[in-house]
Amino acid sequence: MSATNHSDFVKQFPSYKSTSTIDVLRKTQYPLLEKESQIYLDYTGAGLYATSQLQTHQKLLTDSIFGNPHSWNPTSSHSTELVEKTRARILKFFNASPEEYVCVFTQNASGALKLVGEAYPFGAGCRYLLTFDNHNSVNGIREYARSRGASVTYIPVVLPDLRSDEIRLMSELSNPNDGCFNLFAFPAQSNFSGVQHPLEWIAEAQSKGWDVLLDAAAFVPTNELDLGRWHPDFVPLSFYKMFGYPTGVGVLIARKETLRKLSRSWFAGGTTTVASVRGNKFYAADAPAGLEDGTLNYLNIPAVGIGLDHLEKIGYETIHSRVECLTGWLLEKLVGMKHSNGSGLVKVYGPLNSKSRGGTIALNFFDLHGNIIPKFFLEKEANRRNISIRMGFFCNPGAGEVALDISGEELSSCFSRPSYEARITDLDFQNCIDPKASGAVRVSLGLVSNFEDVDAFLEFAAQFLN
Ligand SMILES: Cc1ncc(COP(=O)(O)O)c(C=O)c1O
Repeated sequence: MSATNHSDFVKQFPSYKSTSTIDVLRKTQYPLLEKESQIYLDYTGAGLYATSQLQTHQKLLTDSIFGNPHSWNPTSSHSTELVEKTRARILKFFNASPEEYVCVFTQNASGALKLVGEAYPFGAGCRYLLTFDNHNSVNGIREYARSRGASVTYIPVVLPDLRSDEIRLMSELSNPNDGCFNLFAFPAQSNFSGVQHPLEWIAEAQSKGWDVLLDAAAFVPTNELDLGRWHPDFVPLSFYKMFGYPTGVGVLIARKETLRKLSRSWFAGGTTTVASVRGNKFYAADAPAGLEDGTLNYLNIPAVGIGLDHLEKIGYETIHSRVECLTGWLLEKLVGMKHSNGSGLVKVYGPLNSKSRGGTIALNFFDLHGNIIPKFFLEKEANRRNISIRMGFFCNPGAGEVALDISGEELSSCFSRPSYEARITDLDFQNCIDPKASGAVRVSLGLVSNFEDVDAFLEFAAQFLN
């Protein structure tokens, strides 16, 4: 049974038809989705991989011997060669000039962000400016900034669309601390609301004296990021979010000129040219080696190139267009669901149309009296239907607190309770601020989403109508 009509959908979103190559691909390369009747709606959590990615990678590993890089023997050189080839492939994929950018391998986007946080030259009077709408791995940089005497300023997001307060942003950007270092961080796409923040902010901030960190983790799975057109100083991302496999490899794509400002307070295997015990001195290697701690994930790194080839073959235009059509339909149908007394079934936190937003939708379900339907109930029912969705704040407390109207006072009064001063669990937090602290439901679309996935979620939603 279908909750909505496929031909109405295609009539309203005719460009969906031009993405039919993905239907073929899904059947042949992602067979488990049909075989196991899985409705995968958690692409912002992780992308899915095609069987061909695994096969190509397995063949590569089966056909050669790989040694630890950092040496000149044949098996080591072979690994080094593939790692360097992948580095070049990544830069080419994002149209980043090798003269301007360097690609530093990390474990994931969080690893890339930590690298910036620990090595950025924050000092007394320097500034760290960031949007409320940020993943915790970007929020976490504030602790490095504060511990070194820099000031931290947040730009709020504004209801109902959860876009940033641009007037406030421009005013803060006009006030860098001259003579000190100033870092501005924002996500190209929100992992909470799906909002896409203007990339024009990059050049605007740089022209006023800021270095810019653009968190691209939630953006690049379905949107092209052209680093020949946009020139952020730091771009962290995780590859499993783009094409599912491999996990454990991320990257910091960084402007060489800005990297020169970074300074690390430790060294490790592979990050030095010379390190001496008796001489009590070390010399940091240039990037990327100077920022890559220990042995790289050299067996999985070549799988990144395979994933990028896969994505490129499908094409961002097709992926983006498909996700845009499905998001538009899903939003319209969800918002249109009303209880018998006319009250809405769901509240969507973020833009209600597909303009300047991606396929990530945060929402809550309400009964006809306006009470939030508890998450455990939704989760149990979604699991029963093999629907993968996510509940909570998705590591984005800034957007979540505004969306759910949790005030700073409420939070402070909870955090200052003597029993919560040093430690608080998830459950304590929910009891403190209940029911708002249970967060939202997140549905996210991606590479091989189709009409049937969206329809299955709408059918799931419809059962909560009275
Ligand atoms: C926008 C954004 N930034 C950063 C991250 C962190 O990524 P990872 O957990 O792969 O380090 C995520 C993960 O969901 C994200 O969505």
